[in-house]
Amino acid sequence: MRFGLILAAGRGERFGAPKQQAILGGHPLALWSILAFEQSSAVDLIVMVVDAGNVEFFEHQIRMRGIEKVEAVVPGGKERIDSLKAGLKVLPDEGYVAVQDGARPFVKAEEVTAGFRLVEKKGPVIYALPVTDTIKRVEQKVLKETISRDGLYRAQTPQFFPLEVLKEAVLSSGDEGFAGTDEASYVERMGVDIHVLPGREENIKITFPQDLELAEKLLASGTCP
Ligand code: C5P
Repeated sequence: MRFGLILAAGRGERFGAPKQQAILGGHPLALWSILAFEQSSAVDLIVMVVDAGNVEFFEHQIRMRGIEKVEAVVPGGKERIDSLKAGLKVLPDEGYVAVQDGARPFVKAEEVTAGFRLVEKKGPVIYALPVTDTIKRVEQKVLKETISRDGLYRAQTPQFFPLEVLKEAVLSSGDEGFAGTDEASYVERMGVDIHVLPGREENIKITFPQDLELAEKLLASGTCP
């Protein structure tokens, strides 16, 4: 079985409001990922993780749109890792999972399908883009060094894993108190190879209010999704 795990909990501190309910092109932000996963022929079932107070809101939104693949909407936790664990708990130990930031509305159904194809053949897969800016390390507003961007990539979602691999990686990280900002960071630590598919500039993550404005513009111009 192939599962989509959409992470859409969290306070949205940098956004200044619970961003997952913010409306983009007529849908709450987190619904866009659900719609792309619903459309992908590779996805069997979807689990969505949201703030405890939003479970009913999203269940209603899903019902209203006749979305059929969502098996459960479960409450997340304070940190992303808590939400990831809450989602993994309701998934079986076998099969494959694609973990998706609910804050990335422009993922394409074809990208979801292509990722599942590759994970089944080769193991873990992420989408990522080469870094094009010059990268500096800054401490207390003072530049400390320039870091070579050779081989540096920006990780996006979705990220694909055999469920047993991701579960082992996340559970074994517990004792060391490691909290990754994406799923691949847990799996890397186990020494497992992770394959990289080319990401897309338009697959943006809504973090700040101006990102939502950019997303509206991308929609209006027909560039996305
Ligand atoms: O905070 P950031 O935008 O990096 O979060 C990435 C994704 O992780 C978002 O889709 C957010 O909803 C999700 N998340 C979560 N639970 C948290 C924090 C973030 O599901 N406690």
